[in-house]
Order: sequence, then C-alpha cells, then structure tokens
Amino acid sequence: MCGIVGIAGTAPTSERLIEGLRRLEYRGYDSAGIAVIQDGSVQRCRAEGKIRNLDNALRDNPIDGVTGIAHTRWATHGRPTTDNAHPHTSGNVAIVHNGIIENFKDLRDDLSAKGHVFVTETDSEVIAHLIDHHIQAGLSHDKAFAKTLSELRGAYGVAAIFADKPDTVMAARQGSPLAVGLAEDETFIGSDSMALAPFTRQIVYLEEGDWCIATPGDVRIFDASGKPANREVVISTAAAELVDKAGCRHFMEKEIHEQPESVGRTLSQYISAVDESFAFQPGELGLSKADRLISVACGTAFYAGATAKYWFERYAGLAVEADIASEYRYRQPVMPQHGAAIFISQSGETADTLAALRHCKQNGVRTIGVVNVPESSIAREADLHLRTLAGPEIGVASTKAYTAQLSALACIALAAASSRGKMTKEETAEKVRALLEVPRLINEVMLVEPQIEELARALTHHTDVLYLGRGQFFPLAMEGALKLKEIAYIHAEGYAAGELKHGPIALIEDGTPVIVIAPWDELFEKTISNVQEVAARGADVTLFTDPRGAKEAGDSVRTIIIPECDPIAQAIVAAIPIQLLAYHTAVLMGTDVDQPRNLAKSVTVE
Ligand code: AGP
Repeated sequence: MCGIVGIAGTAPTSERLIEGLRRLEYRGYDSAGIAVIQDGSVQRCRAEGKIRNLDNALRDNPIDGVTGIAHTRWATHGRPTTDNAHPHTSGNVAIVHNGIIENFKDLRDDLSAKGHVFVTETDSEVIAHLIDHHIQAGLSHDKAFAKTLSELRGAYGVAAIFADKPDTVMAARQGSPLAVGLAEDETFIGSDSMALAPFTRQIVYLEEGDWCIATPGDVRIFDASGKPANREVVISTAAAELVDKAGCRHFMEKEIHEQPESVGRTLSQYISAVDESFAFQPGELGLSKADRLISVACGTAFYAGATAKYWFERYAGLAVEADIASEYRYRQPVMPQHGAAIFISQSGETADTLAALRHCKQNGVRTIGVVNVPESSIAREADLHLRTLAGPEIGVASTKAYTAQLSALACIALAAASSRGKMTKEETAEKVRALLEVPRLINEVMLVEPQIEELARALTHHTDVLYLGRGQFFPLAMEGALKLKEIAYIHAEGYAAGELKHGPIALIEDGTPVIVIAPWDELFEKTISNVQEVAARGADVTLFTDPRGAKEAGDSVRTIIIPECDPIAQAIVAAIPIQLLAYHTAVLMGTDVDQPRNLAKSVTVE
C-alpha cells in the first residue's frame, strides 16, 4: 500500500513531508519521493529503497517550498526504481497516487498520440499527463482535475500540485483512503491520520468519490457529482510520536512481546473482572436470533475468523461461514435472511474486505467490523464497530493484532452464546475468568523462547515445512505457515491433521520438519496418531502442547510446552510460540523482518 502526504502551507515543507512519510513506513514500500513548488517550478527528489535514501538524496539536492507532496511507493505497475518512483510530472503538474488505474493503457496511448511523452513504466504517470493536457486545452486547474478524475477507472488516492498555482494541493479519493488535516493557516493531506498526527489532530476523511482543493488554512470538498460536500471534522487519536522499537531489534519483536498488554486492553473492552461477565450488552450484537454468521477477512485476519468459527458454533450454536474476502463477493454468495456478517481487519482498509462489507450492506445484511485502526473505512462503514486495542502495529506481519482479534472474537462468541440462551451465567463466568488469565499465560509462554530459537535454527536448513492442527488449531496451523512464508521466505503449508493421509503424507521424507499444534483436548489422541504416522516416515516432529499433552505424547517427539488453560484461551496462547518461531527463523535467515519483500501492511488494491 502506497503512502501520500501533501501540505498547502506557509512554512517550508520538505522536512515535514518526510516526517509524514516516516509515519507511513509501516505500510511497506520500495521507493519514495517528494515534490515542492520552488521559484515558480516543480522541484522533485526521489530515491529507491528506504526513506533514508531519500534523505541522503535531499541532502545532495536540497529543495524546499511551502507547497508540496510526498509518496512512498509499493510497486504495482513498473519495477521499484527511482524513475518509477512518485511524484510523477507533466509540464507544471506533479502528482502522487495510491491505487491502480485499470484503464491507464488506453489513456496513455491516447495521450501519446497527442504528443505526450511518457518516461515511466507506471500506471500513475498517466494522471499527471491527463491533468496537464486538460489545462493546456484551456480548462481551469480545478476543472482539469475533476475532468481527469471522471476519465480514470480503478482505485486512487491522488494528490496534485501546480507550478502555476503555488498555494494549492488538490486531492481525491476513490477506493484508497485520504484524510485532510486542518490547521490555522495550513492544510494537510495524508493517507491516514497517523501521517498527519505530527501536524494536526483535526481531521476530515474524504468519502468515496470526494475530491478537494486545499489552500493554506482552507479546504473545499466536492462529492463525485461536483457538488460542495460538508464532511465531519473529527479529532484524531492517532499517536503523534513516531512509534519506536523500544530497544527491540524489530517492531515485530516488540509487538510480539507487547501481547500481554494489547490482549489485556482488548479484553477489558468486552469483559469485566469485577462481575465476571460482559462489559457491554450482548444483545447489542444483534445475534440473538441470527441463523447464520458470515465471517470475511484476508490473510491472518481470515485465520482469526476461521478460529472463531469453532467458538461461535461450539458455544453459541451459531452457524458460521468463514470466507476469504477476495473470493466472497465474486461467487454470488447466498445472503443470510436473519444473520449478520463480521469483517475482521487490522488496518480497516483492506480493499477486498471493505468491498465485501459494502456488498453485504447493499444486500441488507447487518455488518460488524472488528478493526484495529479506529478511524479506518471498515470501522466507519460497519453498522457496529468492535475495536481491537492492539495499538499501532508497524511490523507488516500481523502478531499483536491477530491475538487481539482472537481475544475480541472469543468475547463476542461468548456474548452471542449468552444472548442466545446457550450459556448460563455460571458457564459465562467460567469462560470470562479463563480469558482474563490470558495476558498472564502469554507472559508465561514467552519462557519457551530459547527452545524456539533452537528450533528456528533447525528450520533454516529446510525449504519446506508442514504445520498440522485439528479443530480450532487448524486455522492456527495455517497462520503459522503464513508467518514462516511471509517473513522467513521458507515455503510452508498449514494442514488439517486428519487430512494428511489423503495426500500430503506423500511429502514426508527423512527429516521433513513437521510442526504440530495440539494442546490437550478431546481430539488430542487422534492428532497423536497423525504424529506417529509422519514420525514413522522420518518426519522431524515438534509438538506444541500443554503438560498433559506432553505427558501423553511421551518422549517420542520434541515438545514445546504451552501452559494449560481453558479451551477458549488455548488458540490465543498457542499463537505466541508460533509467532516467535517465524520471527527467529526470519532473523536467522537475515530477511527484512518488519518490511518483508513484496508485502504491504495493508493491501488497499484488489
Ligand atoms: C499478516 O501477517 C499479513 N501481513 C496479511 O495477511 C494481513 O493479515 C492481511 O493483509 C489482512 O490485513 P488487514 O488485517 O489489515 O485487513
């Protein structure tokens, strides 16, 4: 996901544009650049790689002005080179863009035929040429900007500056979020409120199709039809200070170790230690009469929803369909007559998840958002927003957001059970007590970290790893495989343990690493049989289990011990050593742990 910052100001902007980009680094990117209006012309500086490279380039080529735009690019069309880095220019126009212009080829061919010369491999460059073309044809800047927007198909968050209109930044949102920051005599544009936190807390979120004209201390907003639009000013709660690593080597390491606090904060939103019940009215969920719950998300958030399926069905007697967002709306899904749909997202901006939410809303289905970024699109558009309080998650690989999602979903499943008369007050109190234990249990399970580091060292010698789990641990097996893939770049697969003999067991050969996630439960014996099946064929098995499971498994396999706890808490606690395994393996592999190659923190394009 790219990052955008713009300033229509009265003081030098270069340093502040870079400052805004630093708050967007967590999104993942592969190049960066800024453009300012200086001495009546557009001055630009761009660099491949990290923002420090842009800093160095600016030191060699200092530019500044009171109006400017800046960008961190996550390459979609065109390699991550300096030439393809934003801002892109044409004549007096410079633009930065987040999204994908689907009809860029036709527009580019048409403009080339009219004499425009393109110098990049990107789709975004066409926006600069189109605006410039309309201005050259005699349209005013705002009309040229609006006409350009009407000709673009696809998703965009875009900001533009003009050498011959030096006090103005124009911006527009269609599928990629944009925020406007208001201040006394300056106006800011940013991909989210975190980018603007150092400058202002007064934020206006552009809505789908909105575009705006920002000048120092003023902004005029128009809707898709061009009519003036009034948008609500909110006071952002985004952290102003740059989140730091607090002495850890990586944000991911810090965020893994923050989980006792982040899970505790999230739980406190939903359950009360005082009366061992809920901190909200379960009826507010609107699930007491539901016949079906759809759970839609992507990646790690999808695995959280797939885990919660077991809890909703087991405790609340509520049928759950856990769906991958990018598949959901394209298969003509049957909408629940008396149900609801829950959308799980750390960023609240994932395009596929947001599109699925809109699809459900259009079909009259009640939508619930379980979201970490409070001012995000999914948080604002869901009928009910249930927050996770993981705090800013900077590492691209989701860790504390995942366990916060699981914690929130566990509480929601229990509340649904209560509102549906499936659990007594006493049964609820028992589960609430179990969940209140989780922060302490997470602290306790961290003690296995030295064993995990040893196991990680072994994994670095392999190119394929199998993760197995049954029941609620099957989605965690898939999450564990995803973590290893996305940060250690080692291929891994998460599989239902019972499915092994239906094919994948053919993969097992001498020394194949197999990670089995199986705290003791009623399925444990069956899983142990699967362990013996693979061990008999030479697999190098590591069993993540609790003391009871370890006792039953005996010395036949290497075990990593997870504290004994109630079934409602097991998958949350077991996630920690699974995250640590991926983290330490990645560190040993020498990868970019916080910003793994090819990945973005939130995928705002389909
Ligand atoms: C998590 O480790 C991944 N980086 C990715 O799968 C992520 O969970 C997915 O893109 C969903 O993002 P969201 O939670 O912000 O919607």
